[in-house]
Amino acid sequence: MLGIESSCDDTSAAVVVDGILRSNIIASQSVHEEYGGVVPELASRAHQQNIVPVVDAALRHAGVTPADLSAIAFTRGPGLLGSLLVGTSFAKGLSLALRVPIVDVNHLHGHVLAHFIRQNEADPVPEFPFLCMLVSGGNSQLILVRDCFDMEVIGRTIDDAAGEAFDKCAKVMGLPYPGGPHIDRLAAEGDATRFDFAKPRIPGLDYSFSGLKTSFLYTLRDETKVNPDFVRENMPDLAASLQRTIIEILMGKLSRAVKETGVTTVAIGGGVSANSGVRKAVADFCADKGITAFIPPRAFTTDNAAMVATAGYFKYLKGEFCPYNAVPYARVTI
Ligand code: KG4
Repeated sequence: MLGIESSCDDTSAAVVVDGILRSNIIASQSVHEEYGGVVPELASRAHQQNIVPVVDAALRHAGVTPADLSAIAFTRGPGLLGSLLVGTSFAKGLSLALRVPIVDVNHLHGHVLAHFIRQNEADPVPEFPFLCMLVSGGNSQLILVRDCFDMEVIGRTIDDAAGEAFDKCAKVMGLPYPGGPHIDRLAAEGDATRFDFAKPRIPGLDYSFSGLKTSFLYTLRDETKVNPDFVRENMPDLAASLQRTIIEILMGKLSRAVKETGVTTVAIGGGVSANSGVRKAVADFCADKGITAFIPPRAFTTDNAAMVATAGYFKYLKGEFCPYNAVPYARVTI
């Protein structure tokens, strides 16, 4: 199974053989850095340049040839339409040339099923049902996973995603895009109790991060403008206090969801699950409650084709193929 991921700004291809990952190649796009965010048109063009060498490298690293492929899985959405169109069209073209079926994968299913990526036969995978906290640049969701394709979103953000909170606050601090990893690095040297930012009071299992962003901005402002001297002098403390607040918001809802569902396994996924503080908080919480934690290797937290090939492999086993008139979709939930 060849998997192709092109939903945002990473072009990735991976090969899974009988359920075991054999290669996972990712080409990240640096073209967006100077714009402080992903520019969709530039992303599509970079995908077009990257896709052939990335697929070629994935096949070579896996030690397979195109003729060995049984099927091709691709991310159909949600994501940037132009970017998705590159992966979708490439998958269709290659499938017609090789006379093998295509399998469409929901990107969010992919992030959840990243926990089923196995590099060795003995690698453990979660038992159903489990709770997955999916936190990325575009999503913050709590998902009750009953089966590979039976998932229910039981909590979601009502405004910004957790990754957006990291990135937007980092942007006002003058840090490069995406800011999440920079906040993570700076937070390690800062005093997390130095600043207090607003925390939302949203009922149920839903999240909100936009109030935190506003409260953060007000802390940095001197009357009407961000005070650059204040930011420079307090960088690590600001980063550490911001990270602590985001983690407290995430963990508050996760803990409530565990109580309400009674699950005994918790998994995390998405770009923000690469954050050292989030990983530690989830590991500590699970150890304390005596529940099993699935914290993915960092390479499988952000966008990657290994999760697409893995999710595609499960659909392939069920015989669920995709027609050639299928088009990408920009938005969809689980
Ligand atoms: O899953 P992902 O690669 O794709 C999108 O949804 O775009 O997630 C990217 C997000 C960005 O917001 C990025 O800042 C955040 O994940 N991220 C992190 C860290 N690594 C990536 N946030 C906090 N700490 C990190 N170490």
